[in-house]
Amino acid sequence: MERALIYQAHRCGACHVANGVGTKVGSSLVGSSLDGLGARRSRECVIGRFLDPEKCSSGTIMPPYRFASGDMEWITDYLVSLP
Ligand code: HEC
Repeated sequence: MERALIYQAHRCGACHVANGVGTKVGSSLVGSSLDGLGARRSRECVIGRFLDPEKCSSGTIMPPYRFASGDMEWITDYLVSLP
């Protein structure tokens, strides 16, 4: 898959905002804005969340994702580089 499409193909934007673009339900986000993520989270934390979101926040509605390992690196680098 074209890596630039990973975020769209998995519909992350249904719950998140990245680069100021995405879904807002009512006045509050379902998920959270991912902008500035790198300032808040380590790469290890982001990867851990994809593999097992329950470990990060129990009861979360975010599903687990298992990307091919190269894709996992790519999406993580992308997310932590969002301004
Ligand atoms: C069904 C809704 C939903 C979808 C789809 C979803 N997420 Fe999430 N995500 C959440 C919620 C809700 C949170 C934060 C609160 C929580 O943990 O419950 C979260 C948290 C995160 C965090 C941690 C944010 C932080 O500040 O620590 C990252 C990174 C993330 N999501 C990335 C993604 C990516 C990338 C995708 C697509 C592959 C995705 N999410 C798809 C709902 C979703």
